[in-house]
Amino acid sequence: MTAPIDGSKFLDPRVAAFVSGRHAMLIGGQWLPAASGRTLDVLDPSSGKVIGAVPAGEAADVDLAVKVARKAFSGPWSSMVPAERAKLIWRLADLIEQHGDMLGPVNSYECGKPIGDSRNGEVPFTAETFRYYAGWATKLNGESMTINAPGDWHAYTRREPVGVVGQIIPWNFPLAMLAWKVAPALATGCTIVLKPAEQTPIGALYFGKLVEEAGFPEGVVNIVTGFGEAAGAAMSGHPDIDKIAFTGSTEVGKMIARAATGNLKKVSLELGGKAPTIVLADADVEMAVAGASSAAFFNAGQSCGAGTRFFVHRKIYDKVMAGVAERAEKLRLGPGLDPASELGPVVSQQQMERITRLICEGKSSGAEIVTGGGRAGDTGYFVKPTIISNTTRDMSVIREEIFGPVACAMPFDDEDLDALARDANDTEYGLAASIWTNNLGAAHRLAAKIKSGTVWINCHNFNDVTMPFGGFKQSGWGRELGAQALDLYTQTKTVAIRLP
Ligand code: NAI
Ligand code: MG
Repeated sequence: MTAPIDGSKFLDPRVAAFVSGRHAMLIGGQWLPAASGRTLDVLDPSSGKVIGAVPAGEAADVDLAVKVARKAFSGPWSSMVPAERAKLIWRLADLIEQHGDMLGPVNSYECGKPIGDSRNGEVPFTAETFRYYAGWATKLNGESMTINAPGDWHAYTRREPVGVVGQIIPWNFPLAMLAWKVAPALATGCTIVLKPAEQTPIGALYFGKLVEEAGFPEGVVNIVTGFGEAAGAAMSGHPDIDKIAFTGSTEVGKMIARAATGNLKKVSLELGGKAPTIVLADADVEMAVAGASSAAFFNAGQSCGAGTRFFVHRKIYDKVMAGVAERAEKLRLGPGLDPASELGPVVSQQQMERITRLICEGKSSGAEIVTGGGRAGDTGYFVKPTIISNTTRDMSVIREEIFGPVACAMPFDDEDLDALARDANDTEYGLAASIWTNNLGAAHRLAAKIKSGTVWINCHNFNDVTMPFGGFKQSGWGRELGAQALDLYTQTKTVAIRLP
C-alpha cells in the first residue's frame, strides 16, 4: 500500500504542455491576466510539485467579468432563440467528448483522481449534462391560468432567466460540478461568471477554450480563476450578480448566504454531507461490502455524498467489516495518471492534514482503527483507506465531514426502523444515505424516515442527470440536476390582461 511517487511517466506531453503553459482568464471573449498581474500555483497532489500557474483574479477582475456578462445578457444572448441556444450547448457537449483525451488527464493530474474515473466517468458525465440541458432550452414554458374574477381575462406566466449568475465550484469533481451549474444556466439564457477552485482551475480553462470553439457570443461564459477569499468573496457580495450557485463547505456556504443579502441575490448551495450506509440483516453481503467500500473510498472519499457512517446489523457486522477491510487493504494507491491506481491522493496538504487530524482525534477519544489510520508514504498527499470502529456520537470523526477515504462503523442489534433512522439522522447534514437490503417494505419505510436529499437503495453515489440532487438541513439549499435545476436559474413572471 506504499504510494508510488512519480506519475510523470504517464503524462502525455500535450497534457504537460497545456498544464504548464501560460494561462489566462476568459473574460468577455478575451484571454486576460489578473489586473494585479498576480498568479497562483497549481500542484500535482501525488507529488506536491508545482505543475502550472493561473491568474489570481480578485475583485477588479470579477467586476470586469460581471460587466461583460451583464452586457451579453442584455445583448445577443437574450435575443437568441432557444433552439439556437440548444444547438450551441449541444455543440459544446460534442467538443467535451471529442477533447476527452485532454480534459480527462488534465482533470486527473490537477485533482489526483484515477484517470479512468476522470476520462471514462467524469468527462462523459460532463458531456451528458450539457446534452441533457440542451434539450431543456426549448422546453421552458409558462402556463395559463383560469381566473376567478368576473369579466374576461387572460393570464399567463413566463419563465425568464435570473440574469448574471456567479458559480463557485469545488475541486473534487471539477468538471462535473462545472457542468451541473453552467449547463442549466446556459439552457435558461443566463450569463455566467464561473470561479473554479484554486486547486483545480486548469481543466476549467481548457473548458473555456471549448466554449469559445463552440461559438457562444462573447461574455456569456466568463471564467475568473482565483482564491475563494478574494475572487469568490467578491462574487458573493457583488451588487450586479443576480444569483450565486455554490458547491463546497458548509462554512463557506454560510458566508456566501450572508454576503448575498446585500442585493438579496438568489443563492443555491450544495454543501457538506455525512451519509449513513445502512446494511440490514438480510442484505446481500457481497454486494453490501462492495457498495460500502466504494461509498467510502470512491474519489478518495472526497465526495459530498460519501458514505462515512456504516450502520451494520450485528448478525453480519463481522463479515461486512472483514470484507471492507480486505478491500481497503488491497486498494492500489498511486498517482491519478497511473492507469493501475485505484485510489489517488487527496487534493492538498491542507486536506491531508485535516483528515489525519480527525483520525487522530478519533483514536485519542477511544475509537479503534480497523484498517488504515493515517498518511501513506511521505510524498504527495496520500491517505490510507481507513475504517474506524468503537465510535460514540460526540466524537469529531462522527460529527464532522472528513472528506477523505475514512468511514466509521457501528453495529446495531434491533431492526427497529425508527431507532435506525434516529441514529442515521443524528447529524447536522442531510445530503445522502444508502440502504442495503432485499426487504422492499423496510427499504421504502426507512427511505421515508431518512432526512436527506437522496436515498440510494442497494447502490451509493449513483447520480444521473435526470435525478435532482441537493441537501436537507445544513447540506444546502436547492436541487441541481434534473428539471429542478431549471428553477434555480429562472424566475416566474405573471402577466394578467383584462380583455377589452
Ligand atoms: P471551500 O468551501 O473553501 O472551497 C470550495 C470553493 O469555494 C472553492 O472554489 C473556493 O475557492 C471557494 N471559496 C472559499 N472561500 C470562499 C469565500 N470566502 N467566498 C466565496 N468562495 C469561497 O472548501 P475547501 O476549503 O477546499 O475544503 C474544506 C472542506 O469543505 C472539505 O474538507 C470538505 O469537508 C468541504 N467540501 C465540500 C465539498 C462538496 O462537494 N460539498 C467540496 C469541497 C469541499
Ligand atoms: Mg476553504
